[in-house]
Amino acid sequence: MNAIAKKVIDIFKTDFSSIPQLYFSPGRINFIGEHIDYNDGFVMPAAINKGIYYAMALNNTDEINFNSVDFNEKLSIKISDIKKMTGWKNYVLGVVNEFQSPFYPWGEGKGLSEGFDCVFGGNIADGAGISSSAAVEGGLAFGINELLNFGLNRKELALLCQRAEHNFPGVMCGIMDQYANMFGKKDNVILLDCRSVEHEYFPLKLEGYEIVLINTKVHHSLASSEYNVRRKQCKQGLEVLKNEKGINSFRDIKTSDELMPFKEQMGNKVYDRCKYVVEEILRTQQASQLLQKNNLSEFGKLMFDTHEGLSKLYEVSCKELDFLVEKARENKDVIGSRMMGGGFGGCTINIIKKEGKEDFLTDATAAYQKKFKIEAEVIGVQIGDGTNEISI
Ligand code: GLA
Repeated sequence: MNAIAKKVIDIFKTDFSSIPQLYFSPGRINFIGEHIDYNDGFVMPAAINKGIYYAMALNNTDEINFNSVDFNEKLSIKISDIKKMTGWKNYVLGVVNEFQSPFYPWGEGKGLSEGFDCVFGGNIADGAGISSSAAVEGGLAFGINELLNFGLNRKELALLCQRAEHNFPGVMCGIMDQYANMFGKKDNVILLDCRSVEHEYFPLKLEGYEIVLINTKVHHSLASSEYNVRRKQCKQGLEVLKNEKGINSFRDIKTSDELMPFKEQMGNKVYDRCKYVVEEILRTQQASQLLQKNNLSEFGKLMFDTHEGLSKLYEVSCKELDFLVEKARENKDVIGSRMMGGGFGGCTINIIKKEGKEDFLTDATAAYQKKFKIEAEVIGVQIGDGTNEISI
């Protein structure tokens, strides 16, 4: 058992003097398909070997006791008092609130029959774009479902976590992160169709290459508000397409040229957002063929194209991310690089030839330090399984 899991369990035993169950809930990477999970697109995420450990046990009271190891903060609350708060509390309470919601089949007033004690902590940084939020939500939802026998399957849990994020923190996220958190499979990429919410797996063969994340260590505060703005802009654009052309989904557009006649009606910004979405949906379909055929160099070119679109048309990048991608572009051993996740900071994802890895990382991080006076963090990741119980 690793040091973080051990720490979480030790703290639990000290705080509550009982023996907990242990769950591991991973973060995710995404190879391609960014900001299109809420636009009926395809995405290609995978769960990683970094995430959050949850130690949990029922406590036979009407109270829930949380201890966040990473934030060094505690929260005790009666089940009947669950309400919105700020920061990490909003994420865990959002999940509990969903189990209390009349929306679910067990019906009104039949949520949690008992409280629980919970200590959690991990090794994924908040704001790094590897979805610590879905990891927080997924681990807790999985634990509650197991301990209190709600009987939800993985897809239902992913959807519950997505609703939790909409309803409490108020980020109108798509389904990608929560889905990858639940359905991750070691050494496999998930190809998720966000229209049907169905997936398939394919093994990732990286012979001679490695995936490396570089964390800019910046997280601009507009990330969640701008995220919701992007969603609205896409909706507005689709509304125009519905009214004018009877098109109900960006998926039904064959080329971004089809948008041109509506540019004036949409306005420049909305048009640019829609152009990116249509191109990214097409690009991701092409990319999935290439990755399945192991054509990494062509796949990598598409990653650069995605970055360009996210930066210029969708405008969710930032100067720090653009700088790191530019460094990658200049290096012949990096075959693909782009910003990953919601944007406005966080990580770039890079596919790098093994022999050139050290040189590139040394050069890129030194140049980044010189330019921004920030020490970028290199994060090596492996593809792992989705949220699960771990025996202790
Ligand atoms: C965040 C959201 C996801 C997805 C990505 C961008 O991670 O939670 O649903 O939209 O941004 O692809």
